[in-house]
Amino acid sequence: MSTPIIEAHRGYSAAYPENTLLAFRQAIAAGAPSIELDIHVSADGELVVMHDATVDRTTNGTGAIANLSWTELQRLDAGSWKSPTFAGERIPSLEETLALSDSSPVVFNVEVKRFSDPVRSAEKLTAMLRRHAPRQGTHIVSSFDLDALLQVRAADAGLPLAILGSDGVALLELAKKHSFSWVHVHHEGVTRDMVLAAHAHGIKVNVWTVDKLELAQEYAKLGVDKICSNRAPELLAAIR
Ligand code: G3P
Ligand code: MG
Repeated sequence: MSTPIIEAHRGYSAAYPENTLLAFRQAIAAGAPSIELDIHVSADGELVVMHDATVDRTTNGTGAIANLSWTELQRLDAGSWKSPTFAGERIPSLEETLALSDSSPVVFNVEVKRFSDPVRSAEKLTAMLRRHAPRQGTHIVSSFDLDALLQVRAADAGLPLAILGSDGVALLELAKKHSFSWVHVHHEGVTRDMVLAAHAHGIKVNVWTVDKLELAQEYAKLGVDKICSNRAPELLAAIR
């Protein structure tokens, strides 16, 4: 049984405010080889790291990212919602986040949530990923949105792509049809047969989001290639 890659979901998000540089740095410090993050596009076209389409849940502001400028977004506090200890943490741009891979052996799994201007955003994203190519391995782009993945491929045919979803078998069909390298499957949609079928076609399987050690061990036994977790440092410590 090979050991799956442990990926930090939104950084070390169990302990730090999700999708912030602090959460990413803490994941890297713990030795996470891969970090998942989510991106949206600001009103003025900046690629912004945040999970939700609005800033309401994870900052002290309100409104849709798509209606706020990058200058307005930078003024918000993205740490206090988690704990007053993290007051002053800011929303990161994708560019400054990817720059972490210039000096650390980490790769990013960039999950595209929504492109408001698909061609321009996809070109911006792929250029950024090329500027900050990792020291080892490759960054990857994932999405629930098939069109977004195809737009990214049109901008850069060489990037590994992952289709996200809950039905492993259906995702595998899509991955085969579009030659995607990965399927990123909700953990309830993963079976041994599905993993074997993926591997028979040269497609890798990432399972999300797994925070319990016992569950992670079960998926490792099924042969998945990567496990995405809010508690990546704890999983890494357990498998070492
Ligand atoms: O990439 C796996 C996972 O991040 C997909 O769901 O909602 O956490 O972005 P979500
Ligand atoms: Mg995500």
